[in-house]
Amino acid sequence: MKILIKNIKQLVQTEDDPKIKVVGKDMKNISCIADAWLAIEDDKIAGYGKMNDWEGITDWSDLTVIDASDKMVMPCYCDSHTHIVYSGNREGEFVDRINGLTYEQIFERGGGILNSAKKLNDASEDELIESALKRLNEIMLQGTGAVEIKSGYGLSVEAELKMLRVIKKLKTLSPLTIKATFLGAHALPNEYKNKKSEYIKLLITEIMPIIAKEQLADYCDVFCEQNYFTKEETIEILTAAKNHGMTPKVHAEQLSNYGGVLAGVEVGAISVDHLEFVGAKEIEALLNSITMPTILPGAAFFLSLPNPPARQMIDAGLPLAIASDYNPGSSPSGNMNFMISLCCIQYKMTPEEAINAATINSAYAMDLSKTHGSIAIGKYANVFITKEIPSYAFIPYSFGSNLIDQVIINGIIIESK
Ligand code: NIG
Ligand code: FE
Repeated sequence: MKILIKNIKQLVQTEDDPKIKVVGKDMKNISCIADAWLAIEDDKIAGYGKMNDWEGITDWSDLTVIDASDKMVMPCYCDSHTHIVYSGNREGEFVDRINGLTYEQIFERGGGILNSAKKLNDASEDELIESALKRLNEIMLQGTGAVEIKSGYGLSVEAELKMLRVIKKLKTLSPLTIKATFLGAHALPNEYKNKKSEYIKLLITEIMPIIAKEQLADYCDVFCEQNYFTKEETIEILTAAKNHGMTPKVHAEQLSNYGGVLAGVEVGAISVDHLEFVGAKEIEALLNSITMPTILPGAAFFLSLPNPPARQMIDAGLPLAIASDYNPGSSPSGNMNFMISLCCIQYKMTPEEAINAATINSAYAMDLSKTHGSIAIGKYANVFITKEIPSYAFIPYSFGSNLIDQVIINGIIIESK
């Protein structure tokens, strides 16, 4: 199958010499070609260039031609942090927060993550697959081409494995590229109140060996936060996870400055995520690391948290990624267009910085930047075609609008149902 997209007003984020991440002041640059063509062969990008440098196509058989006059073509977003497998919603807690309760107070009275865990334990694998597939379809039509999905609403041996097996099934059912993360250390279940070390032992000695045997997870994550898991516990869990073949990630510095970033850097995490309470010490540690700082603007917006210091991090020379954190409690949206808008409007990131953060850098945060996250020959043909818009800055500018016309995933044109 071959696709030629021609007359593209602007082909955004082309890379002749692909990089695995974009760092510091380089995040301000995005290479674009005006009046361009893009050729796709099977599932990969086969070529691109300017219309007036047209190299021609010799074999016109089985070729689909798309005219993208007045439209942009961009690489699909990579969403490196979601909790897209869940049962039921939590709009009741949303209303409770409007009426004055905090996220922490809701958790303390048995809501929050524990509320989702109750619902998930009662749900069948089929129900979870069906609802997650709807959400995956929703984000795909909003331009996402690769996504990470976490467990963490199970909080028992059976339910955590159920979540991870659902994610494994989703890999075969969805056209999206999916990475799986074990987040058994998301919260302490009620049965283990005052017995945290026993719960950690359960994660390490009972669940991790099965995950390794069945290859159920690429990553392991810990919610490092007051009332959840300490820095030392985070290091203990993630060190064990590495021994079981999982790469570390951390929910870090979301509600307080609690040591999550330092724990992540110490164990060689591929990303540390949230970062509202990051300070100079964490920035310094990240500068000498392989760890991708990742901000989740949907959760900060939805929970009215302080802004993460995105500008300071980029200006200090760090790379930055953006993900949606799509989940029922702190970010019930996986719309990466809106995440980009939030970064531009609230954190003063430029559209170029935000797009780099939501594509190549978030691809890095799930080990996909060699195959996803930019327009480069040989990378997967994961691209979207916008509606007629004047520039790519129009995407963050028109927050809340749907500006995506067509999505192509691995060379297949996705029909919106
Ligand atoms: O990324 N911070 C911890 N975990 C999720 C929220 C989970 C929930 O409230 O259900 C997050 O924000
Ligand atoms: Fe999260």
